[in-house]
Amino acid sequence: MKALVLSGGTGTRLRPFSYSMPKQLIPIANKPVLEHVLDNIKDLGVTEIGIIVGDHEPAIAAVFGDGSGLGVRITYLRQEAPLGLAHCVTLAKDFLGDDDFVMYLGDNMLPQGVREAADAFRAGRPAAQVVVQKVADPRAFGVAEVDGAGAVRRLVEKPAEPRSNLALIGVYFFTAAVHEAVAAIAPSARGELEITDAVQWLLSEGHEVRAHEYAGYWKDTGKVDDVLECNRELLDGVERSVAGEVDARSTLIGAVVVEPGARVVRSVIEGPAIVGAGTVIEDSRIGPHTTIGRDCVLTGARLEYSIVLDGATVSHVGGLRGSLLGRSAAVSGSELGSHHRLVVGDHTRVEVAA
Ligand code: G1P
Repeated sequence: MKALVLSGGTGTRLRPFSYSMPKQLIPIANKPVLEHVLDNIKDLGVTEIGIIVGDHEPAIAAVFGDGSGLGVRITYLRQEAPLGLAHCVTLAKDFLGDDDFVMYLGDNMLPQGVREAADAFRAGRPAAQVVVQKVADPRAFGVAEVDGAGAVRRLVEKPAEPRSNLALIGVYFFTAAVHEAVAAIAPSARGELEITDAVQWLLSEGHEVRAHEYAGYWKDTGKVDDVLECNRELLDGVERSVAGEVDARSTLIGAVVVEPGARVVRSVIEGPAIVGAGTVIEDSRIGPHTTIGRDCVLTGARLEYSIVLDGATVSHVGGLRGSLLGRSAAVSGSELGSHHRLVVGDHTRVEVAA
């Protein structure tokens, strides 16, 4: 079995981050989303991985290279424009050959892994197997109508009036039968070749399509609020480990990770929380549910339920919550008395206490 990971796309819902970095490199519990994805694939014993990339290819390749660091072999496949998930399969035709494959959306987090789903596919080898989960509002997703025995009857992409609450959650298993399907379908109303339509085509041609209902935690990390929520979920599974320095006047509460070379001085860190390598925290109160990247400097900061990316600085600012700070971003208490001074980029969101 091979794997096809989809990491093209423009990430409009994650602006301004997606202007400067692919959304798949946003860290959750200090590890890029895409690395969580690749780990899950490797866990299936699959090491031949094609990654569909767009304009952010250099940034992704700079982190993962040929995959040898993770013990896999990565082939980068360039998609010039986001023309749909089924278009990605057409681009990967030569890479995939006649092999079965798992297709995995590079921004979907399933921290408990997809082993059971893969075992079910390998045992029955239907033409396609989709992984689904019940959601409160299925209109934002591909939706599967499934019979009592797990056979898919119908699939619809983002239906206005869903006939089922089972959403497709970004992991699909295919045999080579899908290549005929992606070649047969036409673009949808949004101008994309939808994988949902390709699977529906398989159904109408009489192929077997199965659904595997996923029991674990799942989050599509396409939006900032989902990134923070997913970070909270992963941090809840972290155990205390302190490799960096913590001075005698600091207190660590609960599951706190202090990575090598980090320093915590006169501060309180309430777990679950991670302090990245080389970061310095002084006179601050951090956490819970907070991840600080590498080489950050936090001085006189109060910050909870937040993610701070590498190289950012926060000085003399309290009351930060639900915040996501980009690489080398700087947030500081104003020296202009009661004024706020903001230098914010396009599509940036700032909420200050009124
Ligand atoms: C895509 C798929 C959709 C699926 C979703 C899961 O939607 O088209 O069927 O339910 O991913 O995250 P998109 O995120 O591209 O809107």
